[in-house]
Amino acid sequence: MNLPAPLEDALAPTATLEPQTLTDHPGLREALVAAVTPVSEGVLSIALQPAAPTPGFPAFDAGAHIDLHLPGGMVRSYSLHNPPGQKDRYVIGVLHERAGRGGSRWIHENLRAGDRLMISAPRNHFALDEQAQRSVFVAGGIGVTPVLSMLQRLVALGKPGHLIYCARSRASAPFLDLLATLTPHGISVQTHFDDEAGSPPDLQTLLSRHLSTDHFYCCGPGPMLQAFESSCETLGFGNVHVERFKAQAQPLAAAVDGFCSVELRRSGLTLEIAKNTPPLGALLAAGIAVEYSCEEGVCGACETPILEGEADHRDSLLSAAQKAGQQCMMVCVSRCRSDRMVLDL
Ligand code: FES
Repeated sequence: MNLPAPLEDALAPTATLEPQTLTDHPGLREALVAAVTPVSEGVLSIALQPAAPTPGFPAFDAGAHIDLHLPGGMVRSYSLHNPPGQKDRYVIGVLHERAGRGGSRWIHENLRAGDRLMISAPRNHFALDEQAQRSVFVAGGIGVTPVLSMLQRLVALGKPGHLIYCARSRASAPFLDLLATLTPHGISVQTHFDDEAGSPPDLQTLLSRHLSTDHFYCCGPGPMLQAFESSCETLGFGNVHVERFKAQAQPLAAAVDGFCSVELRRSGLTLEIAKNTPPLGALLAAGIAVEYSCEEGVCGACETPILEGEADHRDSLLSAAQKAGQQCMMVCVSRCRSDRMVLDL
């Protein structure tokens, strides 16, 4: 998720929804911008503190991200890159996406120390397996942010970690100085800068030096994730974790007519929702407080538990096994498949 990440805000939304209001998000809290610091070409590190001293921010696990609620109903997700567990501050990195939808541009042009923002509680779909003996990370540019949090957690656990950090150039690679502070503590960092190497990294060769029992993590742009996943498959690596900036291409949805009767168990409402459209719009129109952010099925904000029935999963987050398990659905992109569903809303 910047998602991710941070979640990249170059994404085009798949549905046009009304701008969100703060009442749509009962879990929001106010944060004070403590510092805004340039850390590389086009990247700001932004430190947030709780606006009130108590109770502080919720604790988070390595790899987690939060949503920032910006003017105009913009909601953008960014990974936390400070050491996990800190309750007195969250720190994010924001890449200025010049071709994006405007969220990162607004942040770069307007956000200053002393400002106040509404933020969500942390969510994590890119969790570190703390039991693993060895962890190997591949990060592309701003994709290093969730990895930083993971590496700091490994240092706290006294476990080794190896990072393959790739960027277009040294000047565009954020947090090299922070990474340097980790290397005396069991973290090894291998860098690859396209302009110095003259070509993109050969991930398969770089990854082939590791063991199939290691855990492998990747956060970066789409082509990097694709190369990472195909390299891991070729090398027979099974412990693979990815954080996506944008949605994966999904198979074409079969044309489905008709409606699903959707019972919202906690709200005591039943809605008739067309099977050929994601439920999010109908839920919001009915006044249901559903969290959402990316509207692309990548951030997990709208994850909704399924109590009965089956969804046609269209997200880029859940594994094949999770989709088959039908325990939850991303209501921004997935559809109702069965004639009746019960959701925990
Ligand atoms: Fe991001 Fe649904 S809003 S996954």
